[in-house]
Amino acid sequence: MPTPKTVLSLIQATGVPTLGNYLGALKNWASMTDSGTDTPNNCIYGVADLHALTVRRPPAEQRRQTFEMYATLLALGLKRENSIVMVQSHVPSHTMLNWLLCCSTQFGEASRMTQFKDKSQQHADNINLGLFTYPTLMAADILIYQAHYVPVGDDQKQHLELARNIAERFNGLYGETFVIPEPYIGKQGGRVMSLQDPTKKMSKSDPNPKACIFMLDPPEVIRKKCRSAVTDSEASVRFAEGKDGINNLMSIYSCCTGESYEQIEHTFVGKGYGDFKNAVAEAIIEELRPFQTEYPKLLADKAYLEQCAREGAGAAARIADRTTAKAMKKCGLWMV
Ligand code: TRP
Repeated sequence: MPTPKTVLSLIQATGVPTLGNYLGALKNWASMTDSGTDTPNNCIYGVADLHALTVRRPPAEQRRQTFEMYATLLALGLKRENSIVMVQSHVPSHTMLNWLLCCSTQFGEASRMTQFKDKSQQHADNINLGLFTYPTLMAADILIYQAHYVPVGDDQKQHLELARNIAERFNGLYGETFVIPEPYIGKQGGRVMSLQDPTKKMSKSDPNPKACIFMLDPPEVIRKKCRSAVTDSEASVRFAEGKDGINNLMSIYSCCTGESYEQIEHTFVGKGYGDFKNAVAEAIIEELRPFQTEYPKLLADKAYLEQCAREGAGAAARIADRTTAKAMKKCGLWMV
């Protein structure tokens, strides 16, 4: 039997997660924990609360959003026998390893990160060092668990590439220390687009409230948002260039139901966009139902969530501390 692989991913908690977060990331995470296979992956998932501090927000909000995202991950059933769900700051060795990795990262390569450049523009009044070393902390998150696969969205590919370069450099300088991680790009659905402007990514900060579906939107709201989704004037459900709105709805529908584009086209031959939009709404509602049932129960049980977080931190630290000690020794720190 082949040895199991380690899968790692973290998500930032910045507000209520969207259908885009779900179909683009969280649904893939859940599928990777599947223990139905011969060699289930060892999955480690978490809330990147330290990364969230790179943008200023009120402390009460930071705390609440971390707690709610942690509850979200549990409500999605990510905590299994072969998986760990933790909060990044509960495992302090991430920041120790971050320092070691910072010393093996060049100023020039960190300066080339497009996310750093974008965020520096967006938050011109707070270009802090955390924003600059964001990718080395992310590399530490990954390398500390000797992760083989990292499910990430498009926007994080450059960071993962940097993590690989840092790992190779560290291994080269000090001897084999880290597994070189590989990106895991999920099936389609990686990019859910705005319902109002399907050339833009679905975003929770969109000023138009109809552009974005949230994971906790009640069924009626989901129906309404789908009905007002922007389409085209052709009135035929088929995937084609120039039909961004319909392509996006088809991609959402396909992710929720598992149906291929051909099957969808076949089902909706001769039917109008109204019917299709209703079907998309029902598919989303069905897909989110288990989560929406579970989430409020978990949120109401603070003691249980705290206990899970402590367990997650303990299990994660056992792996993380071992790698960190190894890396410290390799680079010549005096270990007593
Ligand atoms: N930067 C990632 C994002 O915003 C979150 C993240 C932090 C992450 N550490 C990670 C993702 C480690 C994968 C692996 O999406």
